Amino acid sequence: MSGRLEKLLQSGFKQAEKRFEAMTVLTGDFKKRLINEFGARVKFDEPMAGHTSFQVGGPADALVYPADAPELAKLVKMLKQAGIQWFVMGGGTNLLVKDRGIRGVVICLGQGFDYIKEVFSSNDGVLVEAGAGVRLSSVCRYAAEKHLSGMQFAVGIPGSVGGAVLMNAGTAIGEIGSVIQEIDVIDSAGKIMTIERGDLKFEYRFLSWDAGRETEDMSSLIVITARLQLVSARHADPEAEYQALAAGRRQTQPRGFSAGCIFKNPSVQMPAGRLIEEAGLKGLQVGGAAISEVHANFILNLRQACAADILKLMETAQEKVRQKFEVILEPEIRIVGE
Ligand code: EPU
Repeated sequence: MSGRLEKLLQSGFKQAEKRFEAMTVLTGDFKKRLINEFGARVKFDEPMAGHTSFQVGGPADALVYPADAPELAKLVKMLKQAGIQWFVMGGGTNLLVKDRGIRGVVICLGQGFDYIKEVFSSNDGVLVEAGAGVRLSSVCRYAAEKHLSGMQFAVGIPGSVGGAVLMNAGTAIGEIGSVIQEIDVIDSAGKIMTIERGDLKFEYRFLSWDAGRETEDMSSLIVITARLQLVSARHADPEAEYQALAAGRRQTQPRGFSAGCIFKNPSVQMPAGRLIEEAGLKGLQVGGAAISEVHANFILNLRQACAADILKLMETAQEKVRQKFEVILEPEIRIVGE
């Protein structure tokens, strides 16, 4: 057999294997169980482009919206028992889903995770509870209306509370770790637990926790609630402050389909946007995607971009910045799928 033919056959086998794997991930029986449990709140072969702010991404085998924490716990147990991989999606604003989509189940936190309420109030401030599905911008609005300081750092960060907690989201003026009092999570066995501030370790765009014997990353946990300690602003005018920050953001950041900032800032002195601009890449286009002319750490889906276009722009930015400044740009967005 010629080498070329052998290669072709091998790649054919690999593709067949892949199809088989994909088929065995969600069996017909398991799909029926999902429909029984979640009814209209489960969708199959759902294009992720409709669920992400980038508006790109292939289909997820299944997308499920558990209504509340007990339902989420039940879903996680079902998936663990069946050995099916899953992925929890926040607001879909910090996410790049690849073009062939996501195998297994995408969990979207539904209405039961989309709330903000006051837990405790004193002269000094308010302990605010936010479901993981709430947008950070909604928490900022809530804080402004209640005359509370503490969320200024979040103005301009797209995304949900759950995602923000997991990556200790922040800007040059602060990060979510500084206001978190405790969080509720569900572990991979479906057990709900609370982790207090003292057991959480916040680092630059990274969170880990003290699991007893050792510090662990959060990859096996789903954040469902965050309790945030905000401060009463007696003399300041936080509403005006939030508004001014939002206005600044509208001037410095582009509109359109994006996932916010693409790369982490290597340091305060070397923001990724400046490095990419100085590497001469503003406006660079690949397919339907482009590096923003307004802020170089944003990639925009201009017209029917695919994930591959965006990934190519990211690689180019990493390569040129590495060549020019000897700095490695690390993605800030999450990249999932195949
Ligand atoms: N800059 C350039 N060229 C550019 C873009 C920025 O020279 O094309 C310079 C700016 O002039 C400024 C510095 O880089 O001196 C920092 O820029 P900016 O103030 O826009 O802040 P950033 O660090 O790029 C951060 C967050 C944003 C958040 C803004 C709020 C990160 C990675 N990004 O951006 O968050 O909205 O602050 O001011 O920390 C996100 O997380 O998705 C996000 C958009």
